[in-house]
Amino acid sequence: MRVLVSGGAGYIGSHTVVALVAAGHEVVVVDSFANSSPVVVGRLEALIGRELPVHAFDLTDKDKTEQLFASDRFDAVVHFAGLKAVGESVEQPLEYYENNLESTFSLLRAMRRHGCTLLVFSSSATVYGDAEPPYREDQALLSSSNPYGRTKVMIEQILRDVAAIDDTLQVAILRYFNPVGAHPSGTIGEDPQGTPNNLLPYVAQVAVGRRDRVAVFGGDYDTADGTCERDYIHVEDLAAGHVAALAHLRRALPAESSVDGKGARVHTWNLGTGRSTSVLAVIRAFAAASGRPVPFEIVGRRAGDMPRSWADASLAERELGWRATKTIDEMCADAWRWQAANPFGYGDA
Ligand code: UD1
Repeated sequence: MRVLVSGGAGYIGSHTVVALVAAGHEVVVVDSFANSSPVVVGRLEALIGRELPVHAFDLTDKDKTEQLFASDRFDAVVHFAGLKAVGESVEQPLEYYENNLESTFSLLRAMRRHGCTLLVFSSSATVYGDAEPPYREDQALLSSSNPYGRTKVMIEQILRDVAAIDDTLQVAILRYFNPVGAHPSGTIGEDPQGTPNNLLPYVAQVAVGRRDRVAVFGGDYDTADGTCERDYIHVEDLAAGHVAALAHLRRALPAESSVDGKGARVHTWNLGTGRSTSVLAVIRAFAAASGRPVPFEIVGRRAGDMPRSWADASLAERELGWRATKTIDEMCADAWRWQAANPFGYGDA
């Protein structure tokens, strides 16, 4: 298939580009580079061994989106592009709603006008709010605690509404748990701008000497070691989940349903491992993988954090034949290979 990957220069997007090409698809990237580096493109071309067509614009630009679809032909869109920092979304709610919703509208309109019928959308486990894990795709959503998460809840709903009146559209909503790790080559990886919000990039920057110590947000949770537990998933496993979801959409009969009721053409799958790991266990695994000390200090809880989160990943296994295979040690080893070779991320290039 000829696949348009929005946000294809980003962390998950770039790894998925590699997986899609390896699976035999032709890939075209559209990325605004608002939160990603153009250096990724050369790295990706080296990995896939061919030129990668890239369009540098923001999908909220409806005219440019329309022109792209008018000048090319896509069988499918994998839609990663969006703003994703929880804290920033609280400070700038309008930017988050505008960017994440408008880009989706713009894509949906262009897809409809040009007969592109398959869409894979990046959602997040954040849509489960503060429900008790393990999370299942068919449970009621409690809505997220922040504007970023609410854009995911809203877009999921919009996709269901649009698919309900467009019987050509096939949609896969993928709810990611905590993606970490990097391509085993160490040439692409996660490169957050400024101070990392997420645990793994922070730990990696401590190990490589860019930061003093990890602040562990809370040591008094009702968990085995008192720190929060998350379902960390290797970004390559996550990328493979997109390839599997796309293959399923292509195979799916129009009337096939998943969890969304008879006749629905919207499939929702958790992409997680079904296991959880504590903050302290991650720090230990990273120190072992890197051979570097990872000093830490337990500080107060971070607002909005759940004690535990992990997926019931059985639906994706049953319906897609996909499951995550990589261990937390492999995630840390690959994240370290990337960080050690690129201490300042793509800024080193
Ligand atoms: C966070 C977001 C989630 C979003 C996801 C995207 C919050 C509350 N949740 O998930 O909505 O979809 O990122 O990647 O922001 N931790 C530390 N010290 C740090 C950083 C994190 O102890 O410096 C802890 C956190 O308290 C948490 C765990 O590490 O228990 C994982 O944190 P993080 O990587 O930010 O992921 P989530 O909170 O699960």
